Amino acid sequence: MLAIIGGSGLNQFPELEIIEERFFSTPYGDCSAPLTFARIGATPLIFLPRHGKGHKLPPHLINYRANIRALKDAGVSQILAINAVGGMGEGMGPGTFVVPHQVIDYTWGREQSFNFLLDGYVNHIDFTHPYSAHLRERLINALISAGLPFQGQGIYGCTQGPRLETAAEIQRLIRDGCDLVGMTAMPEAALARELGIEYAALCLVVNWAAGLADQELAIAEMMQILASGMNNIKKTIFIFAKTTI
Ligand code: HPA
Repeated sequence: MLAIIGGSGLNQFPELEIIEERFFSTPYGDCSAPLTFARIGATPLIFLPRHGKGHKLPPHLINYRANIRALKDAGVSQILAINAVGGMGEGMGPGTFVVPHQVIDYTWGREQSFNFLLDGYVNHIDFTHPYSAHLRERLINALISAGLPFQGQGIYGCTQGPRLETAAEIQRLIRDGCDLVGMTAMPEAALARELGIEYAALCLVVNWAAGLADQELAIAEMMQILASGMNNIKKTIFIFAKTTI
């Protein structure tokens, strides 16, 4: 079963054919919101807003472990994550859709592992390629079918937040090779890998990262770009859900 984890701007998804909402409790605590069991055409799926229904949870306080555990318990084997991000690389300006292929994790103090053992030993998952090649290809095909321009790869630098970065921090991320900056890719992607769930992300750039544009960052402008990109994100999700390759 497929799950969509909605990011900023996608806290509700009323266009889905909703079947029921079910609250899942896990050994790690409660997830961000009840899981919405729904359908797109013949495809069953689950929707979970990462920040909670009323966008009340900031990135560093999200219970990522509960979210991923609940999705696993509900039978999810594939996750499409939606992330609003800042852009840094060439061609990564506001309004751009990006299918990232790599992550650098700058977060700290988040519960980042289920700490489970494999045959009695500490389990070090392979995370060379944090995003599923197969889901990324399916997502790229969906973006092409939707007729949307996009960047087919990018390195996502995940910062701790909730504040935005300093100009010097963004210069460091650029030196590290990052193209995008956001606050929610990690530990979500790694936890999904720990539980054997395929994971890919669709990012929408909503601002130039700190210090790269003439003006200071304005949340209102980010929200406007987010709102205007949301229909295309939903369109892409609908196409993605209906294809199974
Ligand atoms: N930095 C971190 N996270 C973000 C940004 C940003 O500039 N824009 C949207 N999410």
